[in-house]
Amino acid sequence: MPCNCCEITDHTFNEEDAKSDIKEYRKRGPAEQTQLILDAVRSLGLKDATLLDVGGGVGTIHHELLEDTARQATHVDASSAYLQQAKEEAARRGHAGRVQFIHADFTDVADDLPQADIVTLDRVVCCYPDFRGLLNAAAGRSKRALALTYPRETWYFRVGIRVINFFQNLGRDPFRVFLHPIAEMNALLEGRGMKRVFVQRLFLWEMALYTRA
Ligand SMILES: C[S@@+](CC[C@H](N)C(=O)[O-])C[C@H]1O[C@@H](n2cnc3c(N)ncnc32)[C@H](O)[C@@H]1O
Repeated sequence: MPCNCCEITDHTFNEEDAKSDIKEYRKRGPAEQTQLILDAVRSLGLKDATLLDVGGGVGTIHHELLEDTARQATHVDASSAYLQQAKEEAARRGHAGRVQFIHADFTDVADDLPQADIVTLDRVVCCYPDFRGLLNAAAGRSKRALALTYPRETWYFRVGIRVINFFQNLGRDPFRVFLHPIAEMNALLEGRGMKRVFVQRLFLWEMALYTRA
């Protein structure tokens, strides 16, 4: 699907949001749904793993997993502002040399990236129209595990997304939020050799952990 998604996303996840998110992370630690991913990945007991964090925002997942699970991380993000905050935080934590930062739409660069033991997508699939392209690329890069969060298919999320997209449209902003079908996302990942081994739900978000079957 032709899409100037990177441009749209870059504009949406701007410097102001990135600064606010990093401030929040420093103050309160990982957000609840991010913590589900961290706990799920840690439950696998991997050590010295490689991590590919797609749409990692301010980099919470690699900041945390480089402490005890990963030796090296790649952070691909469509937002230059978020990447900048992630880089500064990595430097502050003394991890900068262990993280590769790539500003791109992941689906454009996935084929050029090495496979990683762990692939994560925290609240990313809901920002991207082509979930098949995104998840196919993510599964293709995962050697051992893939963990993601996505919106639950609840009536209140459906209403919320309609309201958000209504205002996006009104403001002539092309960015949209998506509620992709969970069963189809699961079928796609299982078709790519991943097995769903764990699911957890919050009020808004669901987290699924897959391991290579
Ligand atoms: C809602 S934010 C989530 C950030 C972070 N994962 C978190 O949960 O705090 C979505 C992030 O995904 C990135 N993103 C969306 N689609 C992307 C794509 N196709 N390739 C790379 N990054 C993408 C955005 O730039 C943004 O940083």
